[in-house]
Amino acid sequence: MNFKKDFPIFDNNPGLIYLDSTATSQKPSFVIDGIKEYLENDYANIHRGSYSLSERSEEMYKKSKEITAKFIWSTDYREIIYTYNANYALNLLSASLKRSQLLKKGDKVLISVVEHHSNIVPWLILKEEIGIEIDYVNIDENFWIDFEDFEKKFTADVKLVSFTAVSNVTGEIFNLEKLGTLIKKKNKDILFVVDASQSVPHIPLDVKKVQCDFTFFTGHKLMADTGIGIIWWKKEILNTMKPAFSWWGAISKVLKDCFYDAPLPDRFEAGTPNLSWAVSLLKAFEYIEKIGGYETLITHEQELIEYTLKKFESIPWVKLIWWKNKESKVGVFSFIIEGIHSIDISEYLATKNICIRAGQHCAEPFLTSLGLAHTCRMSLYIYNTMEDIDIFFEELKNAIITLQ
Ligand SMILES: Cc1ncc(COP(=O)(O)O)c(C=O)c1O
Repeated sequence: MNFKKDFPIFDNNPGLIYLDSTATSQKPSFVIDGIKEYLENDYANIHRGSYSLSERSEEMYKKSKEITAKFIWSTDYREIIYTYNANYALNLLSASLKRSQLLKKGDKVLISVVEHHSNIVPWLILKEEIGIEIDYVNIDENFWIDFEDFEKKFTADVKLVSFTAVSNVTGEIFNLEKLGTLIKKKNKDILFVVDASQSVPHIPLDVKKVQCDFTFFTGHKLMADTGIGIIWWKKEILNTMKPAFSWWGAISKVLKDCFYDAPLPDRFEAGTPNLSWAVSLLKAFEYIEKIGGYETLITHEQELIEYTLKKFESIPWVKLIWWKNKESKVGVFSFIIEGIHSIDISEYLATKNICIRAGQHCAEPFLTSLGLAHTCRMSLYIYNTMEDIDIFFEELKNAIITLQ
């Protein structure tokens, strides 16, 4: 099926070949119109007004959280906290863990070597601020979690494990159910955090099956607007935690010399929340449901992945950074071409109206571990077609001939 027609950016930019959805996704009319309709018909502040407009606005906000919860198999929308993006989400979480003294000096946080900077830097900040330790788990020859290395590093001082569900460089899907089982079998109090920024847009994440305590992701990669980040916190833990930031809105009562936190989940959402962005997230999830849910997303993407891999195989001088597990992969392809800088490739393609990303993809430790300074990355989503892929490869060949 061709979903491109649902996305006005392609009508407004004839010939556009958009292959950078790992960075951000394009928006369907369903989302764009949904935000406009909300702003034109139902917009008012929430948690304050007793008038109907405010109640309608509040209802939209709640519906947004309900569908978000449903998409990750949470049964309680109050476990969902909205922030601004994935970076902000993990910073809020890590700072709240510090304030709640759930992480202390000497505690070890275990992450994987493939992590996006947003799942590295907040822990480095806590290392600097309170003296936690950080260790990196390697990947194996399949580019999956190296469970032998994990077992070695999963020592008694590990208090938190934070892994991505899908690599934003290789598109590899990690076996988080196995990881969650290993963690919780050893000690159910060890906290397990999942960065779902690259999984929720493509494949299901069931927080119960994975046994995580927190997951976070970002709306703009799944067709919502920018400015909406999501954290899911397991209720039992959320109840025991103090929010890192307590401004107006996160507080229920203020006296001259003290204040009381608001009830859940508002306690973690200081100030007026990002209302129209929450609506955009609601509309994005509704759009996914409308086209047939994850089944459609996966079927469409798998067809494109198969096709893309065959094309890559036909130009042997392009070195793909992993491709062998096509059934455990989302549509992300990193590659290098000997003797040509990735930026030069991406700039050449840009002159042909083809958008890809070049650089270290905010995963510098991972690229360094592979001995690479940069790669090109092309990535696929629901609006891409075989024709996009044909044009990309035709122009990639031209780029190589021109730049070599
Ligand atoms: C795996 C992963 N985590 C986190 C992020 C950060 O998302 P945001 O920039 O919306 O905070 C990204 C963005 O590329 C990502 O790929």
